[in-house]
Amino acid sequence: MEQPPPRVAVIGAGPSGLYAAAALLASGAPVSVEVLDRLPAPYGLVRYGVAPDHVKMKSVIRVLQQPFDPAQVEFLGGVRVGEGGVPLDVLREHFHAIVHATGSSVDRSLGIPGEDLAGSLGSGAFVSWYCGHPDHVELRPSLDHPGVAVVGAGNVALDVARVLARSADEMAATDVPEPVLDALRGSAVRDVHVLIRRGPQHVRFTPAELRQIGELAGADVVVHDDGLLADGVAEPDDKRQRQNLQLLTGWAAAQPSGKPRRVHLRFLRSPVRILGDGGRVTGVVVERNRIDADGRVVGTGVEEMLDAGLVVRAIGYSAEPVPGLPFDERTGTVPNDHGRVVRDGVPVPGAYVTGWIKRGPTGVIGTNKGDAAETVASLLADLPDLPAPPHPEPEALREALAEHGVRPVAWSSWLRLDAEEVRRGGLRGAERVKVAELAEMLDVAHGAAAR
Ligand SMILES: Cc1cc2nc3c(=O)[nH]c(=O)nc-3n(C[C@H](O)[C@H](O)[C@H](O)COP(=O)(O)OP(=O)(O)OC[C@H]3O[C@@H](n4cnc5c(N)ncnc54)[C@H](O)[C@@H]3O)c2cc1C
Ligand SMILES: NC(=O)c1ccc[n+]([C@@H]2O[C@H](COP(=O)([O-])OP(=O)(O)OC[C@H]3O[C@@H](n4cnc5c(N)ncnc54)[C@H](OP(=O)(O)O)[C@@H]3O)[C@@H](O)[C@H]2O)c1
Repeated sequence: MEQPPPRVAVIGAGPSGLYAAAALLASGAPVSVEVLDRLPAPYGLVRYGVAPDHVKMKSVIRVLQQPFDPAQVEFLGGVRVGEGGVPLDVLREHFHAIVHATGSSVDRSLGIPGEDLAGSLGSGAFVSWYCGHPDHVELRPSLDHPGVAVVGAGNVALDVARVLARSADEMAATDVPEPVLDALRGSAVRDVHVLIRRGPQHVRFTPAELRQIGELAGADVVVHDDGLLADGVAEPDDKRQRQNLQLLTGWAAAQPSGKPRRVHLRFLRSPVRILGDGGRVTGVVVERNRIDADGRVVGTGVEEMLDAGLVVRAIGYSAEPVPGLPFDERTGTVPNDHGRVVRDGVPVPGAYVTGWIKRGPTGVIGTNKGDAAETVASLLADLPDLPAPPHPEPEALREALAEHGVRPVAWSSWLRLDAEEVRRGGLRGAERVKVAELAEMLDVAHGAAAR
């Protein structure tokens, strides 16, 4: 009797998982591929991270969906693997190889007093809220205060600042869920303070992202650099840094034009304490930094107070460990060699990683393509020697998932949810409006009557 092809599971339907699925298909190797995600919707941070006003960026979805259309790869949405879900050991009984592509969703913390106050949030939580991630529907961040502080000098900090500085009418044209739009309509935010620990010559924003801050219809950009730019700073070698410096120098010399909101880029400032009243954030104390003779950024001991009802840390992420796999707490990644999971220097048979859980939380969507290709090459090289699992038949997996109370969301069911979001978008003049509540996502995906 002919043997069925080896079976590969990809856990995580973000860019890295979907690029891995596409690379497996493109290899022409006789493998069957299934992509599992804990959410009923695919695309990971493309759906739940990329800023809602970056509509063009989201068109990468057309590329990422290709393995599912026509059904060369199966989607099993709503299947959480690991803690609180289907144990990894159960999956191992059904697949020859498993590619872990679960990303880095844990917010890093600053380790300063006051970080636990209500109104002090990580960008993971805040961005997930405005992107309609079902885990953060209840977040309801307080936007009732004119000041907000955003900590960090990466593209995520710029995304957060821009979303807060845009008008509700601009945001209505995006895919934000209705309750998020309502909150933005009622926003009292006027001053968004971006706290950047280094100088204007050091920041590594993508210049295109930085430029958008200066193009906001309803917000002026105000540069606070302690006169550094006017005095002139040495041109950085890095092209991006030079372009950033050019933009910042222009803005520093300009006067605010009186728009209703302001984005303050506060250089050489580190938060040292978050202040609160009645358990809620009321402000943040920042220390002024200076650049020493060796070009290092050091604290001056001089403190300033900023009024803020919300503090968002956009200082990077770590990953959730995958129970059953080794984990490096320092880097927040799964130790690996070219994508092969490695425990104490020895490869774990049939276990692979790709994307942020493999290399850490940096890199744009496209970076994950080459990363996934490397992992898939390792997997395909190993495949002939990987032992067959005890239960490779598709029905056995269905039964195992049912035993764990999981009814997977198939690709056709996701398309039903997708179509409903596009329909709701049409009513608001947007490309789509997201459904954020998990129960409602499942109702729409499965068809309410069938649930
Ligand atoms: C806020 C933000 C905005 C960004 N904006 C841009 C941008 O505009 N342009 C750009 O090029 N790059 C952007 N990036 C970077 C880009 O999103 C990442 O490079 C990319 O998403 C990483 O892909 P990934 O597949 O490793 O992780 P993710 O995209 O996080 O995907 C991981 C997937 O795994 C699933 N998962 C997690 N745990 C489990 C589990 N236990 N069981 C099953 N499934 C699980 C998740 O639901 C998710 O779908 C942004 C990043 C962030 C944080
Ligand atoms: N449009 C886009 O292309 C887009 C949009 C969003 C995200 N992304 C990508 O997604 C990845 C993640 O973005 P990110 O913004 O989370 O990460 P990031 O680019 O690594 O930026 C993190 C920022 O946090 C700062 N930081 C870290 N610890 C700090 C501390 N204790 N105090 C003050 N500041 C601190 C860092 O400052 P230092 O610079 O001083 O180290 C850095 O500027 C990046 O590769 C990014 O390019 C791309």
